[in-house]
Amino acid sequence: MTATSLEKKLTPSGSVEPFDLNMTAASFEKIAELVTEYGDICRVTSVSRDSDSYLINHPDYIKHVLLRNHTNYKKGVGFDRVKMLLGNGIIVSDGPFWRRQRRMMQPSFNRKVTAQLSDQIQRCNLDLLSQWQAQAESETIINISEVSSELALQIVLRALFSDDLDVLIEKQGSNPFSILTDDTTRDIKLVLKFRELGKLLLELIQQRRDEKPERYDFLAMFMDSRDKETDEAMTDRELLDELMTMIVAGHETSALTLNWVWYFIATNPDVKKKVHAEVDKANYKTIPSFDDLDQLTYIKQVIDESLRYYPPVWLFTRKSIEDDMLGDYFIPAGSDVFISPYFLHRNSEFWSDVDKFDPERFTQEAIKEQHKQAYIPFSAGPRRCIGDFFATVEMQMHIGLMARHFSFEYVEGQTLELVPEINMRNKHPIMMKIKKRKRI
Ligand code: HEM
Repeated sequence: MTATSLEKKLTPSGSVEPFDLNMTAASFEKIAELVTEYGDICRVTSVSRDSDSYLINHPDYIKHVLLRNHTNYKKGVGFDRVKMLLGNGIIVSDGPFWRRQRRMMQPSFNRKVTAQLSDQIQRCNLDLLSQWQAQAESETIINISEVSSELALQIVLRALFSDDLDVLIEKQGSNPFSILTDDTTRDIKLVLKFRELGKLLLELIQQRRDEKPERYDFLAMFMDSRDKETDEAMTDRELLDELMTMIVAGHETSALTLNWVWYFIATNPDVKKKVHAEVDKANYKTIPSFDDLDQLTYIKQVIDESLRYYPPVWLFTRKSIEDDMLGDYFIPAGSDVFISPYFLHRNSEFWSDVDKFDPERFTQEAIKEQHKQAYIPFSAGPRRCIGDFFATVEMQMHIGLMARHFSFEYVEGQTLELVPEINMRNKHPIMMKIKKRKRI
């Protein structure tokens, strides 16, 4: 399209009052107002940025930005903060370097590899099973947010380092990555502490280069992978940034989702009944294997609906490279485009009864009727989450195992408050009474 034909097009109406959208609670409030007032698209004049922002809340616009014309958009506002933590890992990199890294890592997330790595997921769950068995005897009240966070951290670390996680723990006297579960503030102090862990990981990479131990984990696969064009392997620095990226991207997102899945199961008696019926009917003995997950379709629907209701990545951004059109609207080069899975998942044009927790929205038949880009907890297009399948397997396995053995009762009187920052977290931990199920 020529520049003149672009200029004739409309500019979306928008907020009169300038505002810099970001991953903050104030922006959450602002976006709620904007989608109510302006609907599918609006322009927000900036306070301190060079260009205006566009908030898009319609699946067709989202499809355009993330899929059809994705080459015109790079990572946007907010990723600068993430960059301090992750260097140039694939969640923040762009262009040919991102493409190369993604191509080198993509095979590690395929079905076959995930099936193999599910042994590590099972191992972490079995450790937790014995802990919960003891607690269920006395119907202890447990902090499900904390346990979910610890479990998700263990799983991603085992998938990355397998047995070498024990070496790292031994060297440090405790799990050096526990700072991620102990400290949820995500401030600059954490960034510095986290980057210090880099030294440990560089030592581990060196040790693997020297000793060539046989390992089946992400690190081994990342070290073995080669650039298709140059046949080069990743440098230590590149490996380090990607390891850090996997830990940060794979931990809190899965942890928060598990925390909400348990919350929704415990507070919706019909859902709880159906989850229990499904695990009781399934034909695995104690712990579902990768191949048993096909039997856990209702649990998958509960996970999908939890991700609709509270998507951990509630807001993400892109920056337009050249002028573009979104439908009839003109988006100039250099604009910041904001996409919020949280608000999109509540767009009443695509979702009915949005505040109802209803896993039936995700039956096979119901999915066929949905607009594909109306549901984007893992984003969409070439920059869709690389760990989406791994995370789904991790969550299905955990719920499939634990719901066989335990029932959780929500402790009444707790206040739920959302903290919409880089990820959307719950401010207060969720407490549940753990009970042994009679069937077992
Ligand atoms: C429920 C769990 C998860 C959710 C909701 C989630 C969500 C997302 C979203 C929305 C993005 C795209 C962000 C954007 O486009 O700006 C993303 C990217 C990414 N995620 Fe996940 N994620 C989850 C689990 C994981 C896991 C388990 C891993 C790794 C083990 C992972 C690794 C990544 C990476 C590396 C990217 C960047 C991909 C790229 O840009 O090429 N995620 N995730």
